[in-house]
Amino acid sequence: MFGEQKISYSGVQPSGNLTIGNYLGAIKNFSIYSEQYKTFYCVVDQHAITVRQVPAELRRRTYETLALYMACGLDPEKNTLYVQSMVPEHTELAWILNCFTMFVELSRMTQFKDKSTKHADNVNAGLFTYPVLMASDILLYQTDVVPVGIDQKQHVELCRDVAERFNQLYPDTFTVPEPVIAKSGMKIMSLADPTKKMSKSDENTNAVVYILDDRDTIIRKFKRAVTDSGAEIRYAADKPGVSNLISIYSCFTGKTVEEIEREFEGKGYGDFKLAVGEVTADALAPVQEKYRMLLADKAALEAQMKKGAEEASWYARRTLSKVKKKLGFVQLR
Ligand code: TRP
Repeated sequence: MFGEQKISYSGVQPSGNLTIGNYLGAIKNFSIYSEQYKTFYCVVDQHAITVRQVPAELRRRTYETLALYMACGLDPEKNTLYVQSMVPEHTELAWILNCFTMFVELSRMTQFKDKSTKHADNVNAGLFTYPVLMASDILLYQTDVVPVGIDQKQHVELCRDVAERFNQLYPDTFTVPEPVIAKSGMKIMSLADPTKKMSKSDENTNAVVYILDDRDTIIRKFKRAVTDSGAEIRYAADKPGVSNLISIYSCFTGKTVEEIEREFEGKGYGDFKLAVGEVTADALAPVQEKYRMLLADKAALEAQMKKGAEEASWYARRTLSKVKKKLGFVQLR
């Protein structure tokens, strides 16, 4: 809470390769939050460097990510959209919170364990303290709710523990945030293995439909989607492939499962897969068009970044100054 304002905060990695899973499970619903909360969406370029990045690509993807979120419906007039490295308070608070986060707590983080196996040649301290920077992102804005995927829940819980520990020593410093996890009904599965979540880092690109895939690619990927034995279009636990396609069709058309089953009664998998491909391509076309328009105007995106950073800084400075005062740092006016 900032005064009377309830705050919602989320961070997004600068990666242009967002999938329809990210879109349907999270981004498409982001704009709802701005009705109830003061909302912040941060492109977390400083988190990105915990694994090696090619500078030109990181820069390009920072623009792309901002453009994509705006194209997906995040209105910069109603939401604060900004880039993490443009607000230095994040890393400043991160140092402070490092001193209030326990080594064992960080050692327990499953994402650290996964990433340090995956990037065994570069298990740097930043990878280890990644959740502390994330806690700083969240706590700087006195955040009430953090909409994230289930994979980030553990990090938000750590953030709560750190906030509570700090508040015990220095009362009334931070709002303790709640994670808000997207409903499992919105969980979109891989097209190649429908028991696995659709993931943007899947090596099999046929398993994943990206928001920016062109129409032919989308239709081809759905045509190749793994289905189940039997022939009916029916939502059932023993038909994970078909059920996943029904969910996608339902999300894009707004039709219920029953309506979809009726619509495709007597039809085969081939017809259904083509229909899912078509509704997906139709729904993404306007997003893609808006994305291209936004990305073509770099100066406007930069103006957006500047405005976002100024808005964010106002909040970040207030919290950081309060923290420094509580800790006993001398602050000159
Ligand atoms: N770690 C998050 C992810 O990988 C991104 C993130 C960084 C974040 N800071 C955040 C998410 C603050 C929510 C709130 O998806």
